[in-house]
Formats: sequence, C-alpha cells, structure tokens
Amino acid sequence: MTDMMEDYSMAKKKQKAKAKSKSAAKKPARKVARAAAKPAAKKTSAKPAVKKANGNGAYPKPSSKPFGMDGKALQGVRILDFTHVQSGPTCTQLLAWFGADVIKVERPGVGDITRGQLVDVKGADSLYFTMLNHNKRSITIDSKHPQGKRVLDELIKKCDVLVENFAPGALDRMGLTWEHIHKLNPRMIVASVKGFGPGPYEDCKVYENVAQCTGGSASTTGFRDGPPLVTGAQIGDSGTGLHLALGIVTALYQRTRTGRGQKVLCAMQDGVLNLARVKLRDQQRLKHGPLTEYSQYGEGIPFGDATPRAGNDSGGGQPGRILKCKGAPEDPNAYIYFITQAPVWGEICDVIGEPGWKTDPEFATPKARLPKLNQIFARIEEWTMTKTKFEAMEILNKFDIPCGPILSMKELAEDQSLRKTGTVVEVDHPTRGKYLSVGNPIKLSDSISEVKRSPLLGEHTDEILSDVLGFKAAEIADIKNSGALSAPEKKEKAA
Ligand code: COA
Repeated sequence: MTDMMEDYSMAKKKQKAKAKSKSAAKKPARKVARAAAKPAAKKTSAKPAVKKANGNGAYPKPSSKPFGMDGKALQGVRILDFTHVQSGPTCTQLLAWFGADVIKVERPGVGDITRGQLVDVKGADSLYFTMLNHNKRSITIDSKHPQGKRVLDELIKKCDVLVENFAPGALDRMGLTWEHIHKLNPRMIVASVKGFGPGPYEDCKVYENVAQCTGGSASTTGFRDGPPLVTGAQIGDSGTGLHLALGIVTALYQRTRTGRGQKVLCAMQDGVLNLARVKLRDQQRLKHGPLTEYSQYGEGIPFGDATPRAGNDSGGGQPGRILKCKGAPEDPNAYIYFITQAPVWGEICDVIGEPGWKTDPEFATPKARLPKLNQIFARIEEWTMTKTKFEAMEILNKFDIPCGPILSMKELAEDQSLRKTGTVVEVDHPTRGKYLSVGNPIKLSDSISEVKRSPLLGEHTDEILSDVLGFKAAEIADIKNSGALSAPEKKEKAA
C-alpha cells in the first residue's frame, strides 16, 4: 500500500468483503451458493459502506476507536526525500511526524552535509542533522550511477511524493525531470524548495540569511539608526519547509479527487515575504500618512518611502517595548515585552503607581500618549525593574495586560510544560546519547506524534531494497557491488 488512494480503496474493499461474509454467515449454505451465482448488479438492497459527505467525496464511517488510537494522519503516504540542509528536511520531518514513511536518499559515504557540520560529539551525527531528520529512514544511492538510477526509478514508482531542495537544475541534471517522473508515476507529487521563484534570480543558490534579506525581513528588522538585521528564527529555511509541507498535503488532498500528481514549489523569498506581510501592509499605509504606532512618529522623525525598521515596537498597532526587569542588564535575558494596550490602560496606570494618568488628558487617550511613549515606557520600566520577568508576568497577567518574558534557550530547554506537551523532547541516539529536540509543534488529537531518532547514514538501505522494492538478496548484492549504493571497495557476496 503506497498511497492514500490505494489505502482508501483497499479499506473500502475490505469493508465490502466483511459485509458480504457477514451476510453470507447468516444464510444456509444452499442459499449462499445461489446468491453467489446471481449477478452482483441485482443486489440493490446492500447498504453502501461509505456515505457521500458534501458532494466532494465519500468518507468512511467515523472510526469507533479512541482518538489517537486509529493510526497517523499520513499513514500510507510514502515520501522519497531528496532533501538536505534545513529547509527541505524541516518539511519531510513534519510529514514523518504525521506518519508518512519518509525515505531519505543520501549520497554514499557522505550523506546530508549537515551530518558533519557543527559537530559537537566526535564521530556522531551533528545536532544540526539529528534535530531535522527524526522519524526518517536512510538509504544511500549515487543518483548518477546507472544502477543507482534504476533503484531511484523503482522508488519513484513506489512513492507518493518526491521532495527536494537541490540547487536549481540539479534534479534535472540527475535525469529526474518532471516528465521522467510523471511518466513513471503519474500520481507522484514533486515538491521543491528553491531560493527564488521564476525571475531574474531563479538560478541562484540560496541560504537562510539571503532569504531573510531578499524577502523583506531584514530591511524591517533592527533599529532605525542601525543596519538591517537577520532574526534568530530560521524563517527562510524552516519557514519555507513549513510552507512546503502545507503545499504537499494540499496536493495529496487534491489527488484524491484528480488521481494525478502535480508540482509544488516554495521559493524561500516568497515564504519570508509571506511571513513579513504586515510590513508590506505598512508600506502601503505610508502613502496615506505616517505610521503612528511606530516610535519614530512620536519622536517626530519623518518617514521615508519604505517601511522602516521599528526596533522592538509592536507590529499590531498597540505600542509595545522590551523593558528591563530585575537583574538586567547583567542578565542578558532579564527583560519583558510590555504592550500598552488601550483597553487595559487604567489597569496599567494602577499597577505602575500612576493612577492620575487614567484621567490626565495628557495620557488618558491613545492619541495623546503617542508623542510621550518614551516617557511612558521609562516609567513602566522603573516598575518592571523592581520585579523579575516572571514576577512581572504574574502580576500583569492578572489584569490581562499583554506581556511576555524574554525566555532564553536555557529556560526553554528546562521548561517542564514544554516537555509535557512534547514541544521539547529528549531523544536517545546510538552514537551521541541523549539530546534535546523540538518535537512536532502542530498537535493533532487523532494523530499523536512520537519523535524517533534520526537514521544513521544508509541505516535502512537493505530494508528499503527488500521490503519496499522487493529485491532479492542476490540482486541487492549485485547493485551494491556495482558501487551505486556504497563505496565500491565495500563489495558484498551474493547470499
Ligand atoms: N548522488 C549523486 N549526486 C548527488 C546526490 C546523490 N545522492 N545528492 C546530491 N548530489 C549532487 C547534485 O546532483 C549536485 O550535482 P550537480 O551540481 O552536478 O548537479 C551536487 O550534489 C550538489 O547539490 P546542490 O544542491 O547544488 O548542493 P550545494 O551544496 O552546492 O548547494 C544549496 C546547497 C542549499 C545552496 C542548494 O542546494 C540550494 O540552493 N537549494 C535550494 C534552496 C535551499 O533549499 N536553500 C536552503 C538550504 S537550508
């Protein structure tokens, strides 16, 4: 069973067969024989095993198993994972967490380049690799070797989705053009991450920070009087991987209706711009006057013709800043984000000890406050500096004053509630031992994610050749001896 459609039609067949054998069991043997001789078309009274849902398709009866006990969301979907580094692996890891069988194809002897990047434990796959490749199987194939091509063609026939994030043109140079793939398997979805979509830069190789810079994030991040900044969150790589995962499941859904695959393309520039869309909103607002929620408005600094960098101003139109708490600046993370949201202005005044500001016309309205934001936040900071970020959070939350402590990676790693939800998980690995990873951030109530360690290079090569492709031991040995799957000197004897 390699894809959802097959899974589903098999389930339907099984249901029908079950219904048939049930009714047969109730009838005496003679009647059963007669019934079997009758043409099936005359049997009109049997209830359909599935009901029409909304005109778009038919669904099986709701499962009677408890939620979380009826398999995984993407069970039956097989992914040919040609991804490397971060963007593509983020996508296929998510699909694996949802139950897809992800077969990661890696170059013999080398593998995904990240296996050996930023190595912290000598001889073990790096955290860079392990944290992006959970729940996958690894097979090594030289995609340019004739025997390797043969194995790949067989895998294409057995998979539902091919995911890749090679440099532009690399897949075609391997001979894996859309036409070739589509001919072998018309149901195959071919999903790609590229740096740019069609246009002047389409042939460029792209990494995270390039995408942040070309997607509008860097120009709008940082302080007005400083250079553009990139963010710590990998919105270019992991962000685009997320976009691609949505594209893939959407294409899988469409395939249940059309029966055919399609190409899915996510350009990193597009993904970043999508995440920076509020800044494109502000770009257009500029035509109609200054952006009043930006600090520079209150400070009387004129706007240029492009969305400026806004420091730590809140993007939602309510003035917000990062303020020092007890322990700052010695503790680099003793800060809290504080939003002076208009509906709770009265509560803010009471908490910080300025009840008079509630009625003082100089402070009482959002408009009056805009030119005085520096003064207001300085006063609020006097108060936050008397509390730790967690004490401040506790007090402010009682009054629904929007705020959030600046959490360090150390604090996140130690956070017990994130452990309980599986957002931070401890994983055991045969060569590196225990390490922390980020689990599946998307929680489904009927498809529970378990995080399994990343595969060693080529760990599942034999298993995939025999179980997925049905090759016999002698064939496997032949292919291996050809040098297509491993270093040529590692010859194996036919069993
Ligand atoms: N067997 C044989 N050859 C293989 C192989 C395999 N299993 N896997 C990869 N290769 C080859 C490719 O065919 C390619 O050869 P070619 O240049 O002769 O066509 C070569 O390895 C290098 O692949 P490439 O993707 O160009 O890697 P790179 O290290 O030069 O570039 C990126 C890395 C990330 C910059 C580039 O892949 C890219 O721009 N990807 C799209 C955008 C992206 O995802 N960027 C973010 C990464 S986190």
